Amino acid sequence: MRQQFSYSKKVLKHFKSPHNLGKIKNADGVGEVGNLSCGDVMKLYIRVDKNIITDVKFETYGCAAAIATSSITTDLVKGKSIEEALAMTNKEVIDSLDGLPPIKIHCSLLSVDALNEAIYDFLKKNDKKIPDFLDKRHERTVTLQKMEEHEHKN
Ligand code: FES
Repeated sequence: MRQQFSYSKKVLKHFKSPHNLGKIKNADGVGEVGNLSCGDVMKLYIRVDKNIITDVKFETYGCAAAIATSSITTDLVKGKSIEEALAMTNKEVIDSLDGLPPIKIHCSLLSVDALNEAIYDFLKKNDKKIPDFLDKRHERTVTLQKMEEHEHKN
């Protein structure tokens, strides 16, 4: 297990030179999520062709771990089918970065949640069937988002 604050070389590499940074114009799906505990935000864009994610970009306003996990998530997801992308876990993301400090584990949820939201958006826009588990994940994200908005207003 990594020490409290030490980042792996891979995390630092992705943080310093993130892959697939930016936005996709007229993306097929867009997912935006915020982290309730720190206020960081991530937006992820996907291009889908014949059920394959052919392009993916992200914008993240967040910490080093959030940027690194976003970057590696885009690398991992490019070329995957929608079903394969939905099966991705934050453990897979963390392992691909050779781990994260324990207090930064929550940051990795941002990219996987944004990916799920982008896929949800794509399926919804195209009148495709949304799996129950994705519907539930979307509901949870919306609820958290509302809680965050409420917190910022008060
Ligand atoms: Fe906010 Fe890492 S501290 S995502």
